Amino acid sequence: MSPALRIAVAGKGGAGKTTLSATLSRLVARQGRSVLVIDGDSNPNVAVALGISRTAAAAIDPLPMGLVSRRLDGAALNDPVATVVDRFGARGPDGVAVVHMAMPAHADEGCLCSSHATVSAILADAEHQGDSVTLVDFEASPEHFSRGTTRHVDALLLVAEPYYRSLETARRMGELAAELPIKQVVVVANKLRSPDDLAAMEEFFANHNMVVAGRVPWSDAVLDADKAGTPLIDYDPDGPVVAAVAALLERLTRPDSAAA
Ligand SMILES: Nc1ncnc2c1ncn2[C@@H]1O[C@H](COP(=O)(O)OP(=O)(O)OP(=O)(O)O)[C@@H](O)[C@H]1O
Ligand SMILES: [Mg+2]
Repeated sequence: MSPALRIAVAGKGGAGKTTLSATLSRLVARQGRSVLVIDGDSNPNVAVALGISRTAAAAIDPLPMGLVSRRLDGAALNDPVATVVDRFGARGPDGVAVVHMAMPAHADEGCLCSSHATVSAILADAEHQGDSVTLVDFEASPEHFSRGTTRHVDALLLVAEPYYRSLETARRMGELAAELPIKQVVVVANKLRSPDDLAAMEEFFANHNMVVAGRVPWSDAVLDADKAGTPLIDYDPDGPVVAAVAALLERLTRPDSAAA
């Protein structure tokens, strides 16, 4: 049995977090592991990206308040993760389960404290579920760092595109992550159009002592798959982006992995 693996995906808006989360979760589910994807974006869309129909995705209710109790060592779920997923989640291709962290139904609804506490508790409990992979696709805001929602993950993937503001966002998030007990904090370089793009990103992150563990090329197939409303892994299964995500997964799950 493989140890539980908890992955958070963060980075600047539009960097490719959801595309990579959807592809990674489908690939790892095909290895026979039980996979839960938490859509940590209050404008959720990873369910559709990984192949759940729009109608079924629209029917996923956000996780309600009251699923956790405060304990001395932090928030803890009242029920097993599997029960929460069965009640509030949906299942997609390859058996990937999806839950939605939060989705404001009204303006002026207030803060998302309780949603962050719930996700934090799910991640903490997931540590004890061998053979499982729990992946959180976060929104671009770094709020999950200040709230410590990311505290209980084993790997944090900072997705960046080859332009300065995106690199700088990943660098800043890396700094925040260093204050949390996360074993692997790595960069995924996405939308690479040339060797120069990769070289510039490698140099930038090396200067900040950050490891680039994933190298994902630009591919028009990603945009075409979006237009067709088909998950990339089904639209272009043998294409370069799926291959690059598979290589990243291999690196993350290597027994001796520090992803470096
Ligand atoms: N490797 C790639 N090649 C070409 N286009 C890509 C690639 N990766 C992502 N994209 C495109 O970039 C856009 C943003 O992707 P995605 O929604 O996955 O980003 P995100 O980081 O989740 O965005 P948000 O911050 O809004 O959640 C989409 O149009 C997607 O098709
Ligand atoms: Mg997204």
